[in-house]
Amino acid sequence: LRKRRIGVWRYLEYLPVKDPKKIVSLWEGGTPLYKCDNLAKKLGLKELYVKNEGANPTGSFKDRGMTMGTTRANELGVEIIGCASTGNTSASLAAYTAKSNKKCIVLLPSGNVALGKLAQAMFYGAKVIQINGNFDDAMDMVKELALQGKIYLLNSINPFRLEGQKTIGFEICDQLDWEVPDRVILPVGNAGNISAIWKGFKEFKETGIIDKLPKMTGIQAEGAKPIVEAFKKGVKEIIPEEHPETIATAIRIGNPVNYTKAMDAIYSSNGFADSVNDEEITKAQKLLAQTEGIFVEPASAASIAGLIKLIETGVIDKNEKIVCITTGNGLKDPDAAIRVSDKPIEIECDMDILNDVINE
Ligand code: F0G
Repeated sequence: LRKRRIGVWRYLEYLPVKDPKKIVSLWEGGTPLYKCDNLAKKLGLKELYVKNEGANPTGSFKDRGMTMGTTRANELGVEIIGCASTGNTSASLAAYTAKSNKKCIVLLPSGNVALGKLAQAMFYGAKVIQINGNFDDAMDMVKELALQGKIYLLNSINPFRLEGQKTIGFEICDQLDWEVPDRVILPVGNAGNISAIWKGFKEFKETGIIDKLPKMTGIQAEGAKPIVEAFKKGVKEIIPEEHPETIATAIRIGNPVNYTKAMDAIYSSNGFADSVNDEEITKAQKLLAQTEGIFVEPASAASIAGLIKLIETGVIDKNEKIVCITTGNGLKDPDAAIRVSDKPIEIECDMDILNDVINE
């Protein structure tokens, strides 16, 4: 593992592992950091990067948390691991429990999980339970199960998850040749990732590897924005949103468990929080695909939509060096993509018709 030049375990010295032989890995991390000149030019920005976490083994950043979380579970000798999920966490946990020969139980909000994610959890062999409630209800239920000692909980309330995810911050520094971006923009749901990445940057600064910190900028969906509301009021406490709603089902969360850490990341980095609506999300999703060739799921596009909004509102200075994190692969949610795309043209097998169509 020490010989690995890319990925989460390149940073073994920074991770809380007692016994490296217990590490569970599917070669997570080492995701591309794209320099997005086409999009930067369109938006009038000097330097824009996209860190594409959709390139992880199960297609989202959750794999970084799960390699660490299941490694910890291995060290502890637990047999059954569970989580609540809007989809990606369950897909990732199901894969890592398969790899480590453990049982997996996932609770999902019925009808609000993207097709690809559901397929993954089912196919990797998890016990998939859909509840007639939302993610926050599922979260309450798995917390209760964990307290009863029935499962080891691997939602981001488990600090070992965040330890794995902090490597996103490490990798960004590494890939920028130790130059720290001015700002990191990412979608916020249960608020674990923004907290984790902030921790990564801080650890690199504390150990003298980097000399400054980026402004952590969290973007929520208009219908699920308790953190943005608190930020706008300048307070640290959130008021949970009882009925979260957004096309970006991954961040359809009203009561984020890590809000305290997230508020700290935003305030102490001199960062920002804002929300974007479904239309802005969809537009940004298409724009990223059609200018940079990066296909992300709707929640991930919230970071790009947020970038555009914050340029328009003057929060972002166009000379900033910016990294947007796209958290999950577009293939996770084919329905969302097809719904907003032009329909394919259907024709008979006839060369004349084909020529007519391509000349249109
Ligand atoms: N983007 C994607 C694609 C996600 O799946 C999630 C969270 C987030 C962003 C938000 O990250 O929760 O750390 O603030 N998905 C969780 C899940 C809740 O169950 O898959 P966060």
